[in-house]
Amino acid sequence: MSIYEWLFPCLRPLPAELAHKLGHWTLRLPVPWAGSAARDPFKWNGIQFGNRIGIAAGFDKNAEVLSGIDRMGVGFVEVGTILTEPWGGNPKPRMSRIPSEKAIWNRLGFTSDGVAPVAARLGRYRRSNRSDLVIACNVALHPLTVKTAGEDPGFLDRARQELARLARELHGCADLFVVNLSSPNTRGLRDLLYGPGFRDELIEPLGEEIAALDAASGRTERTPILVKLPPEDADGKPWTPDSIAACAGPLCAPGACDGFVAVNTSIGLARDRALSPDPDLPGGLSGAPLLPLAVAGLRMLRELRREDQLLIGVGGVDRPEDAVALQCAGADLVEVYTGMIFHGPGFPAACARALAAEKPVKRGARHDC
Ligand SMILES: Cc1cc2nc3c(=O)[nH]c(=O)nc-3n(C[C@H](O)[C@H](O)[C@H](O)COP(=O)(O)O)c2cc1C
Repeated sequence: MSIYEWLFPCLRPLPAELAHKLGHWTLRLPVPWAGSAARDPFKWNGIQFGNRIGIAAGFDKNAEVLSGIDRMGVGFVEVGTILTEPWGGNPKPRMSRIPSEKAIWNRLGFTSDGVAPVAARLGRYRRSNRSDLVIACNVALHPLTVKTAGEDPGFLDRARQELARLARELHGCADLFVVNLSSPNTRGLRDLLYGPGFRDELIEPLGEEIAALDAASGRTERTPILVKLPPEDADGKPWTPDSIAACAGPLCAPGACDGFVAVNTSIGLARDRALSPDPDLPGGLSGAPLLPLAVAGLRMLRELRREDQLLIGVGGVDRPEDAVALQCAGADLVEVYTGMIFHGPGFPAACARALAAEKPVKRGARHDC
């Protein structure tokens, strides 16, 4: 029996956030969680991934357990969401597990230490480790900035400066950036993604800032920027080909972003379960019920994306076969989060082995396996 299997029944009665903290603590133990890690090399844009499985954003928001994540045998991790300044998130209750559905409801709302300590931890990890763990930095606008969108004419300038600052402070330690405009737990954030003005005026200048940083540091390949997408439209209804094209289509134009992470948690599924005390902030649902939305979203995105854009699939991977389903729907790489909470730190490596055992899928192919 693994340590996790022994520990999980003890964690179950604890509040979800406390259990998460204890889980983080156990990851610091020098235990090789993965058994045999899968070698399944994948190269994109000059970045070499050891295998196709990563840990999704939100698990290591502040770069505190990178060595433990590396010992899980994954190819990459999305650290964050990272904000410019510290933020404590939304009031409690803000997270609970739904074991009967293998799901988690949360409306944490960006609990971040702020970019300075996170960049310092990432820098220390990079200097003291020989690991080939690929690190994506997931960044977002600060909730206090988002609050002023639509009211304050200086909003766009401030938002651009904020993203530029995140890029400058994290550039040396990020293999790629993910811009998170899809968290359902910061009021007004998703509106920036659905509104074309904001989306284009924020992502393009960030690309220019990163290109300048690449040039100044002598980096030959451009540090890519991906955009994290929700599983649904502005009303919380699952994507249709038209609604996803209206949102993500412009981001597939030449020179726009370098790919997508799809999908974030679902407002629609959270509303159905009425778990939030605040109907204006229903939170987001992750885990098994999200899989069909993630599969459908990826299938539509693979028709929209440019051939050179990367697609990272995430949402509802609760069995290694689900990771394969996301790959078959069009994902080049796959991330896990909630499945790992229910099945333990050996779960990501089991998914990596399942993907490695599959026939390699040609990048950019229109496939369903
Ligand atoms: C507790 C919790 C916190 C999360 N925090 C973030 C976050 O800070 N940034 C982000 O982009 N996604 C965040 N996510 C969303 C995950 O990255 C992922 O998109 C989502 O959970 C779907 O994957 P899953 O079904 O495998 O969990 C969070 C998810 C959970 C459950």
